[in-house]
Amino acid sequence: MKKIIRVNLQILCLFISIISFSACVESKSKFIRENIEYATAQTHLMLKNVGEPTGKNYPRSMDDSGKLTTTDMYDWTPGFFPGSLWYLYELTEDSVWLAEAEKWTASLEPLKTFTGNHDLGFMIYCSYGNALRLAPKAGYRDIIIQSAESLSTRFDERTQTIKSWNSFQSWDGETSGQFPVIVDNMMNLEMLFAASRLSGNKKYYNIAVAHANTTIMNHFRDNYSTYHVVDFDSISGKALFRGTAQGYADNSTWARGQAWIIYGFTMMYRETKDPDYLRIAINAANYYLRHLPEDLIPLWDFNVCEVGYTPDKKSYASKYEKRIKDASAACITSSALFELGILAQESKYTDYAVSMLYRLSNMQYKAPIGSNANFLIMHCVGSIPHQSEIDKPLVYADYYFLEALARYKRSK
Ligand code: GLY
Repeated sequence: MKKIIRVNLQILCLFISIISFSACVESKSKFIRENIEYATAQTHLMLKNVGEPTGKNYPRSMDDSGKLTTTDMYDWTPGFFPGSLWYLYELTEDSVWLAEAEKWTASLEPLKTFTGNHDLGFMIYCSYGNALRLAPKAGYRDIIIQSAESLSTRFDERTQTIKSWNSFQSWDGETSGQFPVIVDNMMNLEMLFAASRLSGNKKYYNIAVAHANTTIMNHFRDNYSTYHVVDFDSISGKALFRGTAQGYADNSTWARGQAWIIYGFTMMYRETKDPDYLRIAINAANYYLRHLPEDLIPLWDFNVCEVGYTPDKKSYASKYEKRIKDASAACITSSALFELGILAQESKYTDYAVSMLYRLSNMQYKAPIGSNANFLIMHCVGSIPHQSEIDKPLVYADYYFLEALARYKRSK
């Protein structure tokens, strides 16, 4: 009798597991389906508003009156809108999105010779990198290789880094840097790995590795938080200044900067399999996760208004007292943690990635159709110190939100 009860109980447990597994799969599919429907509807409105690519109308954010703001192709963000169109194509397999993605990507070809700053990875790889991955065409390979060559001209043997901006002025006015390197620069290295594979030229790979190693030595604090900007002496190669341009204070941790670091070092591990990069990515992620509020969307800087952190008077952060969030950092981190979960074989990171994605899809952060200048995600911060794009949508938040959604869809 006991045996029969035990067997029946086991069958019941198995049955319940199957039901809850199917319910889980069903709710994941529903979540993805609803977000795709939402993102395609909102992006159709964006396309209607923005028209055909002119080289001068890449969606970026929204002004105070609710109107779309755009940039020309030489800003750092033109690759994100074409990149989002690629993710919509990947998520829907609908040729309408393929045609739009191809058209907006092709408009960026002149950038392949651009050497004005370090952002070419964002500009070319979010657009042409996805194009090559999803619908390869003759010509994409050469554009990526030539862009890597252009970016490599900014690498310096003495500092062992790619120069981010051409100059830098600290907010207290006391440092005028000539060789600033910002944590964001980690994101431009992925294109160098791709170019190395495509061309067989190890030079790009070596530059990416050298830059990442210099970043480990100079941008990190002992607790794996990071300085946004390090300025180097271009003769001795030594770091002269550590501080911030877009964070709250020189010694604080800017949330989006930490997100770039998590994403960048996860990518470094994927490309090189060097365990040191995985160690850095894990520790940087743990720092980020330890400092999150309950809803998993970070304040724009982890140290806003904390004792021991003081913005300089010339930074608008000294006047801006609200403790607001930056959803763009959450989008980048959600996407990064999907990959970190797989590479580190740690479900904790995948669980966080999913929870962040669900939180961002909540009506608190996802804009009603037709609002938010037709961007998807609300409540982001461009730069409070520069008094720019505060509590606004940002095209890169949408790009990484869609990338996270695509990674979630691909996940088992
Ligand atoms: N790379 C510039 C930013 O994150 O705002």
